Amino acid sequence: MLEDVNALAKLIKPNQDNQAVFRAFLALLDDASDSSIITAGLSQINVDYIESDELREMALKLLVKADAPQLAKQWETAKNDEKLNNVVSLNGHANSTSPRSVASITFDDIGGLEDVKKQVRRKIINPFQDKKAIFQRFKRKAGGGVLMYGPPGCGKTMLARALATECNATFREIRAADVLDQYVGIAEKHIVDVFLRARTKKPAVLFFDEVEALAQKRQFESNAKVNTVVSVLLTEMDGFSDDNEDILFLGATNVPWSLDPAFRRPGRFDRSIFVPPPDKVARAFILNGLLKERPMSHELSLDEVIEKSVGYSGADLAALVETAVDYAIEDSTSVDNLAPLSQEHFSEAFREVKSTVGEWLAQARGFAQYANESGLYDDLAVFLKKYAK
Ligand SMILES: Nc1ncnc2c1ncn2[C@@H]1O[C@H](COP(=O)(O)OP(=O)(O)O)[C@@H](O)[C@H]1O
Ligand SMILES: [Mg+2]
Repeated sequence: MLEDVNALAKLIKPNQDNQAVFRAFLALLDDASDSSIITAGLSQINVDYIESDELREMALKLLVKADAPQLAKQWETAKNDEKLNNVVSLNGHANSTSPRSVASITFDDIGGLEDVKKQVRRKIINPFQDKKAIFQRFKRKAGGGVLMYGPPGCGKTMLARALATECNATFREIRAADVLDQYVGIAEKHIVDVFLRARTKKPAVLFFDEVEALAQKRQFESNAKVNTVVSVLLTEMDGFSDDNEDILFLGATNVPWSLDPAFRRPGRFDRSIFVPPPDKVARAFILNGLLKERPMSHELSLDEVIEKSVGYSGADLAALVETAVDYAIEDSTSVDNLAPLSQEHFSEAFREVKSTVGEWLAQARGFAQYANESGLYDDLAVFLKKYAK
C-alpha cells in the first residue's frame, strides 16, 4: 500500500495537470486503515502543485481525520483563508462592514458595561487562558457555547470582536448573510468546513453574528433550505467525541426568541449573556468618543446629554450626535464663523432621534415573563426589574 502511495506521489509534478493522479492518490489514502499512511503520503506532496480547491479540501479532511494538525495547516486553501487581522468572514471576503481594523478593538474601547465584561471574562476568556489548568482539574470542559443577546446597537458585535483580541484563540466570524446567500448545499458545506478548520486550530472561537438567521426555529412550512442548515449546524456543534473540545461557540442576536430551542441544549449555546443598553458610564464614554475634536460650546453640558439619553443604544447616540452636528452646521455661516455644538442643538436632536431600545425591551419583557423555561432570560429579568424603577 505504502509503495503505491509513494509511486503516485512521484507522479505529481510542477506545471502539469495533476488532478487525475491526485484524485487517485487521495482515494488510496482514504482506504488506508493506518492514519500514518495518510500523513506520510501527503507530506510528500507540494501543496502548490494542486490547483483544485476541491481536491485540496479533500486532502485537508483526510489530514483532520488522521489528526495531523501541523500538516493540515498547509492544506488550508489560500483562497478561502484570506485573512484580515485573524478575523475571517466565511466566504473569504475581508469583513467590509467594519471601518476600523477589527483586531484593534479591545475591551478598553468599550465603555462601561463592567458587568458584561466580567461575565465575558468568566464565561469565555478564562477557560481559554491561564485558568485552563484549573478547568481541567475540575473536569470542566472549555467549549460549548455562549449566546449574547440584547437590543440592537448596544455592542454585541463590538464585544465579540474585542474578544478576538483579548482571548488567546483563533477567532472566526461567520455571518449568516454570507452563508445563506449561496446555492442549496453550499451553505451546509461551508458550515462543515468552518468547523473542520476550527478543529485544526484549537483553541478556537467561532462567532456567529446574527445567529438567528442560521439557527431559526424550524417550521413545517418554512423553507427547506433553512431547515437543513439548522440540522447541519446542530450536528456540527455536537461533533463526535472530543472533536469540539476547546472550541467555543459564540452567538449574537437581537431576537433570541426566534432561535430554535434545540440550540440551547448542553454543549451548544448552553450559557447566555444579556448585553444591556449602555449605562451612564458607557454613555459618557461613547459620547466623549463621538464628540472628540468637534467644536463645542462652553455652555454645553455633557452631563445633561448623558442624563437625558437613558435607554439610548450606542447606535442611537451616534444618530443623536450626527443630528446635533447637522444643526450646528446649519447655524454656521463660514469656517471662520462656526456655531459650536450647543445645548440648543442637542435639544433639537433629542426631539428628532428617539431611543430604539424601549420597543425591544417591551417585547422582551413578555418572553422573560412567560417563556423562560431554559433560564435564557434570567439576566434580562434582573435588568428589567432595576430598569422599571
Ligand atoms: N459600550 C459601548 N462602548 C463603545 N461603543 C459602543 C458601546 N455600545 C455600542 N457602541 C457603539 O455602537 C455601535 C453599534 O454596536 P454593535 O456592536 O454593532 O451593536 P449590536 O451588535 O449589539 O447590534 C458600535 O459600532 C459602537 O460604536
Ligand atoms: Mg451586531
